[in-house]
Amino acid sequence: MRPILFTLAAASVLALTVPAMAKDKTPTASITVDATKPGAKIDRNIFGQFAEHLGYGVYEGVWVGTDSAIPNTRGIRNDVVAALKAIKVPNVRWPGGCFADEYHWRKGIGPANKRPATLNPNWGGVIEPNTFGTHEFMDFVAQIGADPYVSVNVGSGTPQEASEWMEYMTATQPTALAQERAANGHPDAYAVPYLGIGNEAWGCGGSMTPDDYVAQLKIYSRYARNYNTKSPTKKIAVGPDGGDTGYTEAVMKAWKTKVWAWDIDGLSLHSYTTGGWPPSYAATGFGETQYAKLLKETLGMEGLIAKHSAIMDTYDPDKKIALVVDEWGSWLAPTPGSHSGFLAQQNSQRDAVLAALNLNIFARHADRVRMANIAQMVNVLQAMILTDGAKMVLTPTYHVFHMYVPFQDATFIPVTYDAGTYSHDDVTLPRLDVIAAKDKDGKVWLSLTNLDPTQPLEVDAALLGLKAKAATGQTLTAPKLDSVNSFDAPSTVAPKAFTAKAKDGKLVLKLAPESVTVVSLD
Ligand code: AHR
Repeated sequence: MRPILFTLAAASVLALTVPAMAKDKTPTASITVDATKPGAKIDRNIFGQFAEHLGYGVYEGVWVGTDSAIPNTRGIRNDVVAALKAIKVPNVRWPGGCFADEYHWRKGIGPANKRPATLNPNWGGVIEPNTFGTHEFMDFVAQIGADPYVSVNVGSGTPQEASEWMEYMTATQPTALAQERAANGHPDAYAVPYLGIGNEAWGCGGSMTPDDYVAQLKIYSRYARNYNTKSPTKKIAVGPDGGDTGYTEAVMKAWKTKVWAWDIDGLSLHSYTTGGWPPSYAATGFGETQYAKLLKETLGMEGLIAKHSAIMDTYDPDKKIALVVDEWGSWLAPTPGSHSGFLAQQNSQRDAVLAALNLNIFARHADRVRMANIAQMVNVLQAMILTDGAKMVLTPTYHVFHMYVPFQDATFIPVTYDAGTYSHDDVTLPRLDVIAAKDKDGKVWLSLTNLDPTQPLEVDAALLGLKAKAATGQTLTAPKLDSVNSFDAPSTVAPKAFTAKAKDGKLVLKLAPESVTVVSLD
């Protein structure tokens, strides 16, 4: 009996120590960056933002008013403008969201003290003061250097209202509406490069069947005319809710068989990462199970885009119509103590990883996905920026958008690799996610995300069609799984310098657990 006991004991020691030893060894991955096969341009518009009249997204987050003690330019807070300028926001979608289909633009023009107070029934039923209207929005996007993406009211508005709003904004001739715009301080016609024809017409935007919406689309697309001939308008139709293909089929079929009198340039897709509905996943204080589950869900964006793109390809093989993912991001349980209708949530390193994964998916579909808008820019859902009175903090998601600036309008370069796996409980994820691109100056950039929050990852990169001795850039890591930036500790999650050297003709990059790293090849 003794030898058997000894053997069992020895086996159990082995069973305990072997996995532990394996865990101590840094996992590795090999990637090949093939610069000889450049792909599509990664449109800078995929880094777009969304600013709805919702909670503290616009009021307090952007607009504090000209009398505010918070430093501002014509009522728009300077700190937020400076932060957004730094991430080169290409476009801002406004005024909603669900709010857009109850917004009546005339209430938001003219002297501030004459503007009527209305209600915001979608988002807490609070008073909408209408002090931030068309002129203030146009001033805001001009201050940050972004293009306006305006959504017209199809749900509770009329074609006449939408048509007159467009005339008010874009007419170059002295029509009565253009003169009213001039009297309100802006003689020059505005450019409206992007126009959304309604929002979520399948839901808060009117509960329309696909065919009912198509009937509206034809009318609004025709009559919401752009009169500013120096600056054309691209029109974006309501499209699918997640994986539902009804709108994709109906809108694309209508477009394919359309007559000359109407047109569109884009089809919108909305898909949030929620962990279930209603959202119950905490934004902070979560464990590895919720970390892994949420990232697994967000990777579903790949399948959604592939599915809708395949339908679009059947009607539009030349990819004239862009798939515009104009609402995406994490939608988590509201911050405890906040108004549940204000959709306030903290933003952790998990959000940073989630953002990188989605941006990478959009980049891989750059030929079809030419615009996207994360929800939302300030103080709402997966925000770039949180404010509290005069205080402002940049979130981990902000830092990802900052690190990804070089990818704006860069040319996609394919990367092949075996991502390996990271598993927790019953969830298995790829361990690694990589994209590469060449910018206008010929510099090649890599973004590498290590999804595994428990282990670093050593990546060796073989380069085809280019040479590099080193890579330099930034890495975003966090001390804890759920680290956030707060007003008291604003730099807990902040990019740090990163370098990698070549060895035996390959670059060797050491990625921290749960990290996003962006480097240029030197
Ligand atoms: O972003 C919050 C809301 O989510 C938007 O108003 C709506 O379009 C979507 O359902």
